[in-house]
Amino acid sequence: MEIEFVAAGAKTPPKSALARIVHEGAALDGTLGQAASASRFTGGKGQTLDVLAPGGVDAARLVLVGLGKADAVDGIAIEHAAATAYGAVKASGLPALRIELPDAGPELAARAALGVRLAAYRFDKYRTKEPADKKPSVVKTEVVCNDVDAALEAFAPMAALADAVSFTRDLVSEPPNVLYPAEFARRVKALESLGLEVEILGEPEMHKLGMGSLLGVGQGSVRESQLAIMRWNGAADRKAQPIAFVGKGVCFDTGGISIKPAENMEDMKWDMGGAGAVAGLMHVLAGRKAKVNAVGILGLVENMPDGNAQRPGDVVTSMSGQTIEIINTDAEGRLVLADAIWYCQDRFKPKFVVDLATLTGAIIIALGHDLAGCYSNNEDLAANLIAASNSEGEPLWRMPLPAQYDKNIDSMIADMKNTGGRPGGSITAAMFIQRFVNGVPWAHLDIAGAAWKKPSAIPTIPEGATGYGVRLLNRMVAEKYEG
Ligand code: BES
Ligand code: MN
Ligand code: ZN
Repeated sequence: MEIEFVAAGAKTPPKSALARIVHEGAALDGTLGQAASASRFTGGKGQTLDVLAPGGVDAARLVLVGLGKADAVDGIAIEHAAATAYGAVKASGLPALRIELPDAGPELAARAALGVRLAAYRFDKYRTKEPADKKPSVVKTEVVCNDVDAALEAFAPMAALADAVSFTRDLVSEPPNVLYPAEFARRVKALESLGLEVEILGEPEMHKLGMGSLLGVGQGSVRESQLAIMRWNGAADRKAQPIAFVGKGVCFDTGGISIKPAENMEDMKWDMGGAGAVAGLMHVLAGRKAKVNAVGILGLVENMPDGNAQRPGDVVTSMSGQTIEIINTDAEGRLVLADAIWYCQDRFKPKFVVDLATLTGAIIIALGHDLAGCYSNNEDLAANLIAASNSEGEPLWRMPLPAQYDKNIDSMIADMKNTGGRPGGSITAAMFIQRFVNGVPWAHLDIAGAAWKKPSAIPTIPEGATGYGVRLLNRMVAEKYEG
């Protein structure tokens, strides 16, 4: 999607649709007033009204989009209205869209452009037979703005964000025969062109480090496990203590020997959504040259059952030295994170670690698909994450780490076991990870429900991979950890 900002009087390109975004109750005159009065359109949030060949308007087609009450309008509402406008005309056959906002200031104009970029995301590389008239026709969007230069400046970091969210959505959407650990690592390595430093460790290097927990998960796969280490040093002092993010990157989760049922198993290609979000975060930090030192670590494995696969009953030794009895090979994400988080703390001594993982079905039962769970040992970090999550429309809900549940993962023969049973399954998974947190502020985001969605009510999030996490982490870094 090409984005342009234009001044109010600019001539509309031929064959364009015009979207006029209006507050609830805004006065509409002429043919638009007539059209609105013949419909239920009042300007309420999310409402649209299509007007073909409107008189007195320099466009073949106009869509009115409701923004809701004027006093309740924020950046997210503008994004959603612009995304709704795009959705209303994307298949109209017209190639261009012009958006008019009630307030043409540069910040909101930029947010409108971001909304369109996010809404226009599509993963269609494997569709070879889609008829042309089923593809979106709109390829260019103009946003009317009273200060074009200021809008371009405001949009630059948002364009970097949209690029990063698309990168994450692409990773998460790729089929698992294409995106296995080494291929994921290659795509991340390619981000060096943005100025990131990327190291890839393979199985021999991880053996040397003693990562028996992570390696046990991948040992039933013919695909080699990988650890990707991404670094962005944008702070004035490039040696200053970094902040750190760790992602679960299970490129496919069959469950292993504790194999999952066939129904919906294809969904488990999304099980690298945490690693995808961390990669996307590093992408946007580099893309907008954030003034921060940040590390992103991705634990990339495939959980498969074969003759060499890990068994229930096995005991593995993690890099921390702690031993783990494997009760269920399907509780593999925490095993990957245990070593990735330990490595991260051991090598980088970060200010904090935030991990993201599609970790448990239980978090979906607890919170549904709109909220991700946030576990943390640190009040400031949790508050910063939750504040950022709300302002970016990627809401988090704080979950508890009750000390009395810790014994649920004690083992008869090892230091711990890898499942604590079904009750409180997302909590005991978080508490397992907590046993590998070595005195640093830490938060764990269980994004199993949020990483991908059925058709969603949110117009900036098309069906499928959401890119959840990139926006909220980027916002938290921008507001709390830069400069
Ligand atoms: N990747 C799954 C969690 C998951 C389930 C994500 C559904 C998205 C949708 C994870 O590896 C898993 O299998 N967890 C088990 C843990 C259990 C065996 C203790 C689960 O949630 O059932
Ligand atoms: Mn699993
Ligand atoms: Zn998994």
